[in-house]
Amino acid sequence: MDAFVIEGGRPLRGSLRVNGSKNAALPIMAAALLTDQPIDLRAVPDLADIDNMKRLLASLGCHAIESAPGAVRLQSIDESSSHARYEIVRTMRASISALGPMLARRGEARISMPGGCAIGQRPVDLHLRGMEALGAEITLEQGDIVARAPRRAGGKRRLRGAPVFLGGPFGSTVLGTANVMCAAALAEGRTIIECAACEPEIADLADLLIAMGARIEGAGAPRIVIDGVDELAGAAHEIMPDRIEAGTFMIAAGIAGGSLTLENCPLDALMALTNHLAEIGVHVEEHPGSDPRRARCDVSYEPRRDGRLKPAQVTTQPHPGFPTDLQAQLLALLCLADGNSVVTEKIFPERFLHVAELSRMGAQVFRQGPTAVISGVARLVGAPVMASDLRASACLVLAGLAAEGTTTVHRVYHLDRGYEKMEERLAALGARIERVDAKELESAPAQG
Ligand code: UD1
Repeated sequence: MDAFVIEGGRPLRGSLRVNGSKNAALPIMAAALLTDQPIDLRAVPDLADIDNMKRLLASLGCHAIESAPGAVRLQSIDESSSHARYEIVRTMRASISALGPMLARRGEARISMPGGCAIGQRPVDLHLRGMEALGAEITLEQGDIVARAPRRAGGKRRLRGAPVFLGGPFGSTVLGTANVMCAAALAEGRTIIECAACEPEIADLADLLIAMGARIEGAGAPRIVIDGVDELAGAAHEIMPDRIEAGTFMIAAGIAGGSLTLENCPLDALMALTNHLAEIGVHVEEHPGSDPRRARCDVSYEPRRDGRLKPAQVTTQPHPGFPTDLQAQLLALLCLADGNSVVTEKIFPERFLHVAELSRMGAQVFRQGPTAVISGVARLVGAPVMASDLRASACLVLAGLAAEGTTTVHRVYHLDRGYEKMEERLAALGARIERVDAKELESAPAQG
């Protein structure tokens, strides 16, 4: 298993282009199951999760051809197997995104029930409630969700439009909204989703569906209205830039110090972060005239000029609130603030596995339930640490950039699920970071 070895204390300088969004790409790729015509995607990131989605789609008869880096053509050529199997689903929870498209187009779907993961229990009850509202009959058979649309006159199975409420104990559901929107696009009649997720990735998916011929209004807001059509056609679409990747690099500039220019940055989707960064003392300058969805911005923090970072109170919330996917990274930054910060996790209350690892680097963090109180320290010290999930891994890499001495982040396969060649991109900005095979570290003779 690969690990990153980081020599901390080097500022980051230079520029970086933000890649296409993983979280937008995954449900968008699954939407290719809604038609037998080709879907041409651009700016698809080169990530392990994207490969997993290609494998899943291939097992469902939808094949991917990559004509150039980031350019992927998906086409469903065989609709005979609608079984998303455990072997693939267990590698990636976003496999559940195939449910709505498959059920809508093929009239039935069988998907292995996703289990829990490092960041919590993660149920799919809202997805199923949404499908049931559209008339589906759902059963659980041998660990698989089996969903069937009702039979219409003529014997064909087809969902029917209906009001769907997607509010749950922690707000709406992002992939649940994507699933219902896809399913409703081919249902008979009108669907109104109330309490829809407002994440920009939902609006990006709607853009593709509309290009395919779907009739959707309001995506990106809490009420989405969908008038079902009989068929959807092929279309081309460029995936939006990744707001979480962009935010991670912004926080990296703050924690390591230095100055970064980000190109293709979805600034309009990052206001909750940029507001907090300003409060903490990290400067973000947007270049006037730029498209806020693909903007250029400079992010800088020079400790000698700006003094110590300031503490903050941060609560994760559904979009446009502060994203849970940047909580771990911002928490690492707050470990170095001059004072006490409070971070409350309202989406995944268990998502604090990084705290114990940060403590090994000298951070002072006290966790009580969904809240972490961080007493800022003047410095972090390098240590061997273990990545537990995707964003926690990013947090540990950022902490390693700031720490004195050597940090080894083990199990970076979590990181590879969501960040393309992160070590190469950080190294190009001046960080001292390299990927090693962790076995080599274990077999290296002890020093001294
Ligand atoms: C997506 C993102 C993930 C992000 C999360 C929240 C992708 C591929 N993943 O995940 O990176 O952290 O949004 O912004 O886009 N819930 C239920 N019942 C359900 C579904 C969800 O109770 O049926 C709860 C979850 O446990 C969680 C909250 O709702 O507490 C939000 O989860 P959800 O928005 O569904 O997350 P995902 O779409 O899986």
